[in-house]
Amino acid sequence: MTENIVDVSHFSYSYGELQAVRDISFQVKKGEVFSFLGPNGAGKSTVINTLITLLPLQKGTVQIAGYDLGSDQEKVRQSIGIVFQKITLDKDMKVGETLEFHGSIYQMGSAEKKNRIDELLNLVELSEKADALVSTLSGGMKRRLEIARGLMTRPKVLFLDEPTIGLDPQTRRKTWDYLRSVNKEGTTVFMTTHYMDEADLLSDRIALIDHGQIIIEGTPAELKQSLGNDIIYLDTSDNPRTTEILRDLSGIRKIAAYEGKVAITSEQDGTRLLPEIIREINGQGIDVCAVNLKKPSMDDVFLHYTGTEMRD
Ligand SMILES: Nc1ncnc2c1ncn2[C@@H]1O[C@H](COP(=O)(O)OP(=O)(O)OP(=O)(O)O)[C@@H](O)[C@H]1O
Ligand SMILES: [Mg+2]
Repeated sequence: MTENIVDVSHFSYSYGELQAVRDISFQVKKGEVFSFLGPNGAGKSTVINTLITLLPLQKGTVQIAGYDLGSDQEKVRQSIGIVFQKITLDKDMKVGETLEFHGSIYQMGSAEKKNRIDELLNLVELSEKADALVSTLSGGMKRRLEIARGLMTRPKVLFLDEPTIGLDPQTRRKTWDYLRSVNKEGTTVFMTTHYMDEADLLSDRIALIDHGQIIIEGTPAELKQSLGNDIIYLDTSDNPRTTEILRDLSGIRKIAAYEGKVAITSEQDGTRLLPEIIREINGQGIDVCAVNLKKPSMDDVFLHYTGTEMRD
């Protein structure tokens, strides 16, 4: 049995009249990367801020690392690391000092602190910047320092709210690498994001959230699969006959005419079906003029379930 390290049940949250989160339940398994993916205003920060004890628990039950958030806030706090949506570093501190100070707040011993700082600066490739002022770091370096700070106390779960917001594509990729290595070392990662690619590439499981509710939950592959299968678009020297010929081929779920082409929905992996299709119709003396294979992407998933690409 896999252990649930985060267990949220019937959670709701309101800001006065506005109900931001409505009766959501979900679990994060120990060792996984779990993402809340959703558009602006979906309620992601509200949930994560409650879990990290920044907002009061209004309704529902939450267990983190075996502790009850309602009755054991202090223990929860000691079990988690946090990276906020907005940069929260002190600009006038040095990089090493930032981690040093954080360790002191959590009453880490000085030898342990020093070892951990070396280890983490190495992990996020900031060892050379140990004595640099935070104000002199690039945006990506600041993010990496925040991740290191979040990991100072060896948390069981690292919470990150929009870890790569505002970063350039290269720095985002780097940050993903760090998060992967952090996760490989055994830290469970709970993050929120409104980036489809980020959720797709990093997560073991995703909960798609919109208007304060979880719309669908699963592995990235399951979410894409939920939209249907690969679609192959074919243009041939004789589309009507192609349609006839392929009717009896196994592995095809559906054939339809689409914008002057033959659209074929495959049962499973379209990349394996396609060569068979081509062989079949070539064998009947029909030429293939154009081929296009489309796998449902996370963008398609997002669009399908939230009805919008981004809401600003
Ligand atoms: N302090 C607050 N007071 C009143 N309403 C709030 C407050 N914080 C958030 N909200 C509202 O609650 C809803 C959920 O907001 P939340 O910040 O949780 O969304 P989010 O998914 O994190 O969005 P984003 O992607 O923009 O960070 C939104 O309608 C937002 O306007
Ligand atoms: Mg947010």
